[in-house]
Amino acid sequence: MSKRLDGRTAIVTGAARGIGKGIVTCLAEEGAKVLFTDLNVEGGKATEAELRGHGLEVAFLKADTSKSADVAAMVKATIDRWGRVDILCPNAGIFPETRIADISEQEWDEVCAVNLKGPFLAAKACLPHMQKQRYGRIVITSSITGPRVSSPGHGHYAATKAGVVGFLRTAALEWAPWGITVNAVEPGNILTEGMKLHRDQAFIDAQQSAVPLGRLGTPRDIGMTVRFLASDEAEYITGQTIVVDGGQILPEMQTAILPRAQ
Ligand SMILES: NC(=O)c1ccc[n+]([C@@H]2O[C@H](COP(=O)([O-])OP(=O)(O)OC[C@H]3O[C@@H](n4cnc5c(N)ncnc54)[C@H](O)[C@@H]3O)[C@@H](O)[C@H]2O)c1
Repeated sequence: MSKRLDGRTAIVTGAARGIGKGIVTCLAEEGAKVLFTDLNVEGGKATEAELRGHGLEVAFLKADTSKSADVAAMVKATIDRWGRVDILCPNAGIFPETRIADISEQEWDEVCAVNLKGPFLAAKACLPHMQKQRYGRIVITSSITGPRVSSPGHGHYAATKAGVVGFLRTAALEWAPWGITVNAVEPGNILTEGMKLHRDQAFIDAQQSAVPLGRLGTPRDIGMTVRFLASDEAEYITGQTIVVDGGQILPEMQTAILPRAQ
């Protein structure tokens, strides 16, 4: 049976675990061949073995998304292996929690290098191939934090996640003539390894009770949305973002009592 992404190739950054792994899985399950990167070699290899064990065509490459030489190697590896690059998902991100008064210049630069420069470098490196193909789907992992809402400790993080939305709107305009669409997904609170490392159980429980749909998101929730934006069904959507947050930012008042199923 044919699948929607048969014949397509994809790159996903920061995908040894978490949301990135969810994106790789959803794209590969739909027939795409996926090269994914991470700094974590052990985790990347384990994910590669796990997904190959499920019959998915994936390959892991160690690459730092904030370094242009690594990003060039990532695109070259994809072209050498499969001859084209149809889908790019710049997903790698870091989210240290520091009040603005305490953010050092170095920490500010690190967050910008991974979360904001990373998507720019990856998109720019894929551009010549997508232009030649006259086809491309770029889907960036932004966040509700920055474009829509924020919380204390996220001054740098929120700036980068709003920043990529400004970037993608410009890229969407500049690259539309080649059939390249550029969009983003804005996750709410997704239960990933990164979230478990940075947040305690009390935070996770509080978030859960604040989500109208009654649970935190999963990497698969994000992967399915990215898969849609990466598919031919989404060919007339560009320069847009989709919030995937279980309704978390819908309530008018934070004190609103949320309806619950009996
Ligand atoms: N988890 C959430 O609730 C949530 C919400 C909104 C947005 N996001 C965004 O989703 C993305 C993934 O988040 P996650 O929760 O899966 O995080 P995570 O920490 O579980 O996974 C991120 C992966 O990126 C890798 N990585 C970090 N820096 C890198 C670099 N320079 N080059 C390559 N890989 C690098 C890490 O090693 C890790 O494997 C991030 O951009 C994050 O900002 C997450």
